[in-house]
Amino acid sequence: MDRELAVAIRAARAAGAILRGGMRMEKHVSTKAHDRDPVTIFDKQSEETIVTILKAEFPAYGFLSEEGLDWKGDSPCRWVLDPLDGTNNFLRGVPQFAVSIGLECSGRTEVACIYDPLRDQLFTARRGGGAYMNGEQIRVSDTTELKDALIALEFSSYPPRAVTLYERMRRLIGPVRGVRAFGSACLNLAYVAAGMVDGAWFLSLSQWDVSAGILLIEEAGGKVTDLSGRPLLDPQTGLLATNGLLHPELLDLVEG
Ligand code: IPD
Ligand code: CA
Ligand code: CA
Repeated sequence: MDRELAVAIRAARAAGAILRGGMRMEKHVSTKAHDRDPVTIFDKQSEETIVTILKAEFPAYGFLSEEGLDWKGDSPCRWVLDPLDGTNNFLRGVPQFAVSIGLECSGRTEVACIYDPLRDQLFTARRGGGAYMNGEQIRVSDTTELKDALIALEFSSYPPRAVTLYERMRRLIGPVRGVRAFGSACLNLAYVAAGMVDGAWFLSLSQWDVSAGILLIEEAGGKVTDLSGRPLLDPQTGLLATNGLLHPELLDLVEG
């Protein structure tokens, strides 16, 4: 999988350059499912760039990508990617967004690459090969007490989810040192892997948000489950990612 990772890195860097340039340009925004779900021409350009690079090297591999590409391919492997995670930040010039690329083979993620183009931070992992940031091995934090814990989460503007979020957040905020809502789910996961935060909690995400991030966390020694503590089958039902040590206590606070 070394070649796959190298090509994924090349694709993520090329897409990142497009997003970096796009920050200063007219973004031609339109909306998708609802009016709080924007998409720009740069989401699409980034996707096209990544797909072109990956397809040239691995023509049989399938794709699942946020901007509409869902192709099984002629192989047990498919690329699962979010060409711009953090579109609302990107639109407003908030410097927190990234490209996320995972390679899943027979349903298991083998390669992960998350790239923050503004900080030039590249998070990578290969199954069994550890997790890295800009080539240096990373590990989850060794925080053992909630009072020392920094937890990333994301707000939701979808009304039923917002109510659930507030209720569970009330339980979480008191015991922990701080919560952060950075606005890019894949970076939240990368930050758990790098030990910058001790956990990340989400009520609902898509596979392209998490495919790379979960492998990064597992390879960095952390743990990811659904909100009942079971193996994660569908990120749309929510997930908790932690350094492992705080998993049981955090689960108690955020589970339904
Ligand atoms: C969104 C971001 C955000 C999360 C949303 C995602 P997008 O992805 O990751 O942090 O709260 O659930 O949909 O739309 O910017 O790719
Ligand atoms: Ca996303
Ligand atoms: Ca996206």
